[in-house]
Amino acid sequence: MIFRPGSKLSEAQAQSATHSSHVDMAKACGVRHAAIIMDGNGRWASRRSLPRFVGHKQGVEAVRTTVRAARDMGLEALTLYAFSSENWKRPEDEISDLMGLLRHFIRADVDEFIANNVRLKIIGNYRALAPDLVEMIDDVVQRTAHNTGTTLVIALNYGAQDELVRAARALAAAAARGEISADAIEAAHIDAALDTNDLPPLDLLIRTSGEQRLSNFLLWQAAYAELYFTETLWPDFDGASLAEALTTYATRERRFGGR
Ligand code: FPP
Repeated sequence: MIFRPGSKLSEAQAQSATHSSHVDMAKACGVRHAAIIMDGNGRWASRRSLPRFVGHKQGVEAVRTTVRAARDMGLEALTLYAFSSENWKRPEDEISDLMGLLRHFIRADVDEFIANNVRLKIIGNYRALAPDLVEMIDDVVQRTAHNTGTTLVIALNYGAQDELVRAARALAAAAARGEISADAIEAAHIDAALDTNDLPPLDLLIRTSGEQRLSNFLLWQAAYAELYFTETLWPDFDGASLAEALTTYATRERRFGGR
């Protein structure tokens, strides 16, 4: 079953793709790179009268399940918005809970990444995080650097405007050094100066929990991405949810501005 981006999938084909084996499903649906704004942990917890922390903890389980599914489906890259540059406005306790969960996730799952050929990559200004976390991240990034399966990209202290500001500064500095003339700067130079420069183009951007905003996530990269919004709260998201997003993508027609 080979579908290209822009090809039309019948409802029946989409149904069967969702329920059949996930192997190679990403390629079949024409998705190389998907990204997710993981939203709704707090609501998941409050609907159960549980503390927010439990929602975030369950959110990590959804991360684990979704990464495994992405790997089984042969997705080249999965980018997850774990902590935005605006999330520092949250109460200190919640920030500390999120950092603790992240620390535990990376430590606990590194062996699974290695066993399954998963490469870890971080986007965002993660060097501003706690030094032990930065050290652990650098270690896992380096240990998985040569893996050729799915790239798991975690956006940490990430904001698209901040990423674009950093890219603009890098290009301005290159121009000041005489390495490039300002007039010669093109979209490809900006692509190359972004944190995502070694990833395939973004095909599909998913947001959970019913909110329909980009929240400063991958603004440049999403220029031609398909947007997919689901009411599912992040802790309830799983392989079937990802499969549904991918098969929906396969039914869309992408025109990139053409007709
Ligand atoms: C949004 O839920 C979610 C976040 C701010 C953080 C996402 C983080 C995780 C899933 C856990 C850590 C990540 C990794 C990669 C291990 P919300 O709190 O805004 O939910 P609400 O809108 O319902 O309140």
